[in-house]
Amino acid sequence: MTRFLLVLIGLFSAILLLHAAGQAGGDGPSPWKPLLPADAYSELTKRSVAAIEATAKSGVKDAAERVEAEAAILVGYTLSVKNPTEEAVGKVRGAAIQAVQAARSGDLKKPAGFGKMIEAAPNAAIERMPRKAYLQELAWVMEIFKGKAKGGEGLHAELQYSPPLKKLNGIEAFIGALAKKKLSDDNLAKVSKELPNLAYRLAVVGSITHEFPPAKGAGQWRELSNQMRDASTALAEAAHKKNGAGVLTAATALENSCTQCHSVFKGK
Ligand code: HEC
Repeated sequence: MTRFLLVLIGLFSAILLLHAAGQAGGDGPSPWKPLLPADAYSELTKRSVAAIEATAKSGVKDAAERVEAEAAILVGYTLSVKNPTEEAVGKVRGAAIQAVQAARSGDLKKPAGFGKMIEAAPNAAIERMPRKAYLQELAWVMEIFKGKAKGGEGLHAELQYSPPLKKLNGIEAFIGALAKKKLSDDNLAKVSKELPNLAYRLAVVGSITHEFPPAKGAGQWRELSNQMRDASTALAEAAHKKNGAGVLTAATALENSCTQCHSVFKGK
C-alpha cells in the first residue's frame, strides 16, 4: 500500500514538473522576478517608448540593432513589473515584440510611431518567452553601458555628480565611481531621484543577460547575472531610501558582477 502511494506521488510530481517546464517557455531556470514598482515601470516605459521612436527616426548607424535592444529591454520591463495590470502591460509587450520583428526586417517606419503601435497591439499574454523572440545579440544591450562618445546611451544629467563623470558620460563609469567611494550626503541627495530608475533598468538587463549563457560555464554565468539583477534591485531600494552605506554595498556587488563576468567570459 505504501509503495503504491509512493509511486503515485512520484508520478504526480513528474507531471507537475513537466507542466512547469512547459509553462516556462525558455531555456533553463527563469530569471524573471516581479521587482519593478509601478511608478518606476511607468516612468521607464515612457522613456523606452520615446527612445524607440527617436532611434527609429534618427538614421544613425545600427539604428535597427538599437531599436531591437531597447524593445528587448521594454519586454523585460513588462516581465518584471510588480502587480501588472494585465491588459495594459500585455499590450506594451505585444507592441515591443512587433517592434523587434519590424526592426529585424529593416522596417523602422513602424517603430518610429511606436506609441501608435501600442494602441493597436495585441495583448501578449504574460509569460516567459524564448529569448530569440526579442533579442538576437546580448552585445547590443551591453553596448548602452559604454560612454556616450563611444556609442553608449550616456548618463542622466542628475547622475553626473562629479566633473569626471560628466565628461565620461557613461553608465559603466558611473557604477565604478559608486562602488569606489561612499557618496557624500550632498551627492546622495542629488542622485537619489534618478538612481532608482537606472538601477531598475540594470536589474532588468541582468535578467535578460541570464537568458544568454554560453555553452560552457552556464551555471557561473547565471549566478553572475542573478547577482547583477539582485544587486541592482538593492541599489535602487537603497537610493530610494537615501541610504548611502546601502548604495555603496549594492554598487560594489553590482560592479563585481560586471567585472567578474567580463574577466571569465568576454572575448571568448
Ligand atoms: C553574466 C555576464 C555579464 C554580466 C553580469 C555583465 N556583462 Fe557586460 N558583457 C558580457 C559579455 C559576454 C560581453 C561581450 C559581448 C560581445 O561582444 O558579444 C559584454 C560586453 C559589455 C560591454 C561592451 C563593450 C566592451 O567593453 O566590450 C559593456 C560596456 C559592458 N559589457 C558593460 C557591463 C556592465 C556595466 C555590467 C554590470 C552592470 C555588465 N556588463 C555585466 C557579459 C556580462
